[in-house]
Amino acid sequence: MARKSSSRFAIAASRGDELTRGTASSPRPRRSRPVFAAAYSLVSSLAERAGLAKIRRRLLLGARGRVLELGAGTGLNLAHYPPTVRTVVATEPDAAMIRRLRSRVASKTRSDAGFPRWVVVQAEAERLPFASESFDCVVTTLVLCSVADLKAALSESMRVLKPGGRLLVFEHQLSANRRVARWQRRLRGPWRAVAGGCNLGRAIEKAIVDAGFEPGDVDVLDVRPTLPILREHVFGSYLKPGDDR
Ligand SMILES: C[S@@+](CC[C@H](N)C(=O)[O-])C[C@H]1O[C@@H](n2cnc3c(N)ncnc32)[C@H](O)[C@@H]1O
Repeated sequence: MARKSSSRFAIAASRGDELTRGTASSPRPRRSRPVFAAAYSLVSSLAERAGLAKIRRRLLLGARGRVLELGAGTGLNLAHYPPTVRTVVATEPDAAMIRRLRSRVASKTRSDAGFPRWVVVQAEAERLPFASESFDCVVTTLVLCSVADLKAALSESMRVLKPGGRLLVFEHQLSANRRVARWQRRLRGPWRAVAGGCNLGRAIEKAIVDAGFEPGDVDVLDVRPTLPILREHVFGSYLKPGDDR
């Protein structure tokens, strides 16, 4: 097992030369959920047209330099990175998602000369195989609900960001409405089973601040049309304390 894992990292490193901590003891993400990946592609194509694409574009206007994207999925953010971005290192643990992501990256690279450099790495947000303080920006959209260990994912994001670097976030979270929050709690188990491991009602804003990030320009969005249990989203940028950049 360890040997296979280290060879996967070696392949990614030879393509992008981005991995600085990938060793035989690195994580071994093994997941592949082709049915979930196909369902996500279908549902998200409707959601993007209904308004999510605009939200992504607005969020990513704040990205620049060398960007790390957590749980990039099928690559729905990739069309929205502005020219201020030099390189995007897209991480994703699920092999079926990665296949879709790679094909989207390849077609965009062919059709858009101004497209930033992309590197796709199979990795979990809780164990990032990158050097400390090596990114200007970390992007997370609709991912922090799914990570197994939210605290570890945020602590790794903090570690790999340069001082003064930005965490750009668009995530659904615990509703401020007590009735909706109760339903989020009640439905958490069944929802997780049908929605690819998504945990309803996580206190995302609190977790980000508890991890040591300083709120920059942060909003709470009421995203519609969708179920009330999925409407409340945290949107915006947080800063890693340090140099003013
Ligand atoms: C709802 S999808 C969102 C995908 C993409 N970020 C987007 O905005 O469309 C959630 C993604 O999180 C990924 N994921 C699940 N657990 C993860 C983990 N521990 N670390 C990083 N990504 C994870 C899933 O494989 C999936 O691609």
